Amino acid sequence: MIPVAFPDYADLMPTAEERREALKRIYLEEARDCVRCPLHQTRTNVVFGAGDADADLMFVGEAPGRTEDELGLPFVGQAGKLLDKLLGEIGLERGDVFIANTLKCRPPGNRDPQPSEIEACRDFLERQVELIQPKVIATLGNFSTKLLRGDPTGITRLHGQAEERTIGARTVRLYPLYHPAAALYTPSMVEVLRADFARLPALLTEPAPVQPEALEVPEPEPEPEAEAEAEVDAGDPVEQMGLF
Ligand code: URA
Repeated sequence: MIPVAFPDYADLMPTAEERREALKRIYLEEARDCVRCPLHQTRTNVVFGAGDADADLMFVGEAPGRTEDELGLPFVGQAGKLLDKLLGEIGLERGDVFIANTLKCRPPGNRDPQPSEIEACRDFLERQVELIQPKVIATLGNFSTKLLRGDPTGITRLHGQAEERTIGARTVRLYPLYHPAAALYTPSMVEVLRADFARLPALLTEPAPVQPEALEVPEPEPEPEAEAEAEVDAGDPVEQMGLF
């Protein structure tokens, strides 16, 4: 019999560091100065997302509010405080998870995201999912739930029920939750959200879903030396802001 050498597929998979670098490049080279939709005219900062770029658990909210827009970080206002509290109750903190939004820019006056804005921004979210490779995505509220399920069923019917869904090139357990901002002033909804949060640790111990195909991370463009030096001099905004 002729021995057949199979390639070691582990060698072909991008490492966590390569995926994090690719995520950084998307933020620095595409998202930070994005003009894909009219929200760039009114935003202060693009709120790309923050947390562990290799997290098993990712949260996807709706869109930045005023405080998030000012600071360039997701969920740092009142809703974020509730999110932090609920995370703490299950033994996690924000550095253990990745937090992103359906829209990366604040809609003026916190109005609802428009379908055209969601469509313009969805590629960023899909690439975040592909690179972070979370096992579980907890969608917060209707907008992210409807987008990532590709179905108009509302959060009231879906919250607390995990299901496998393929997002871009990645299959995850999608776990819809009420939006913390909706729960802020409704104590009964906080209790439902708390009970749904309590199921997250068990969900995270389940084996990762089977993946449709291996991901290829694009090679970075080689940089001219002078520019590379200039970037080192200016510091790394991803590190400076503590994004991921
Ligand atoms: N609400 C959201 O959906 N996202 C944030 O980042 C803050 C509040």
